[in-house]
Amino acid sequence: MSGSKWQELEQRLFLRTVNRVPVTLVRGQGTLVWDEEGREYLDFVGGWAVNSLGHCPPVVVEALEKQARTLIQTSNQFYTIPQIELARLLVEHSCLDRVFFCNSGVEANEGALKLARRDGKLRLNGAYEVITTHSSFHGRTLAMTAATGQSKFQEPYIPLPNGFVNVEYNNVDAVKQATSGQTCAVILEPIQGEGGVNVPDDSYLGKVQSWCREKGILFILDEIQTGVGRTGTLFAYERYGVEPDIMTLAKGLGSGVPIGALLAKEDVSLFSPGEHGSTFGGNPLVCAAAYASLKHILDNDIPGRVERVGNYFMTRLEELKQQFEVATEVRGRGLLIALEFSQEIADQLVLACADRGLLVNKVRPNALWFMPPLIITEKEVDRAIGILADVLTEKFWAPGAES
Ligand SMILES: Cc1ncc(COP(=O)(O)O)c(C=O)c1O
Repeated sequence: MSGSKWQELEQRLFLRTVNRVPVTLVRGQGTLVWDEEGREYLDFVGGWAVNSLGHCPPVVVEALEKQARTLIQTSNQFYTIPQIELARLLVEHSCLDRVFFCNSGVEANEGALKLARRDGKLRLNGAYEVITTHSSFHGRTLAMTAATGQSKFQEPYIPLPNGFVNVEYNNVDAVKQATSGQTCAVILEPIQGEGGVNVPDDSYLGKVQSWCREKGILFILDEIQTGVGRTGTLFAYERYGVEPDIMTLAKGLGSGVPIGALLAKEDVSLFSPGEHGSTFGGNPLVCAAAYASLKHILDNDIPGRVERVGNYFMTRLEELKQQFEVATEVRGRGLLIALEFSQEIADQLVLACADRGLLVNKVRPNALWFMPPLIITEKEVDRAIGILADVLTEKFWAPGAES
């Protein structure tokens, strides 16, 4: 993993927004990727929960090749078939009725909150405030930085746009207390990803939904990370017996092509022509790819597989926890999992794992974050566990020799 010419060039050319792992990836297939020296890695980062079907999945590659030869971009001034087909698939398989396509998660959330403000203006005497939660993550625009309940993302940019009230996660009373005549919506992640892989009590989403219905305010779910099979059901809301008024998707929707979507119930689909839009959003190329990916996920019950392999992975991580005192907690659902430690060793572990051919991410200084492709097998989980155990044993904490 020595610094290559590409890594030196990157140091000179880029704004410093990310600390990259010193690996230059040049090729991927399924759950594996290779660096410029031909070294193979098992990928448990999955493009940050994006590569649903792994790297270069044949169904997506074929759809991209075919669509690239047919029609790539038109503008949304015209009807195009791939986006209509994708919208139909999403509506048929969710509780939502209408779709708006964009290019990323943050744009989907921006659209969702603009829609909530339209609703506030039209139905709630101009209410515009949105309740969000501590440790949430909703994206990087100025407004979504304000919505995101983590001061480390906010502090460099204060003053931020107003209209957001941030309350404790997994606490419905906090939502109730924060609700005022100015509130138009609550936005939540069903499981917080970036904030630490925080799984709320099973009753939390239902209680928040009931409160939103009682107050006539919108219940919005950010399923950008949890959606499209990641947690073992197609959408995470299904497990909690709730139905959001608005849901946002991105990440895993396109198995690697950049696409975001905002879905809404009929009665809140309030945009009029010109009130919202996107140049690239939902263009034929990305929609053909996302359609092929989503169809494959549905036809092959990938969420069911995620449930099974995710449970197996959690069990194996629990075993690891028993073995190493430094590992203190396993949490998550499906293939969105964190392993927490009693010490801030996540950075060292990320590098040591990469050195041994396993790519993982950190979600906190003391916690690793696993978001592998949804197609990983139990055997690949065993391989990852083996590498983690080796790293913990050889490099850090040999069992029975706790420092
Ligand atoms: C829950 C959630 N919402 C929004 C976003 C922002 O998505 P994007 O980076 O595609 O703008 C992310 C990205 O990590 C996310 O995890």
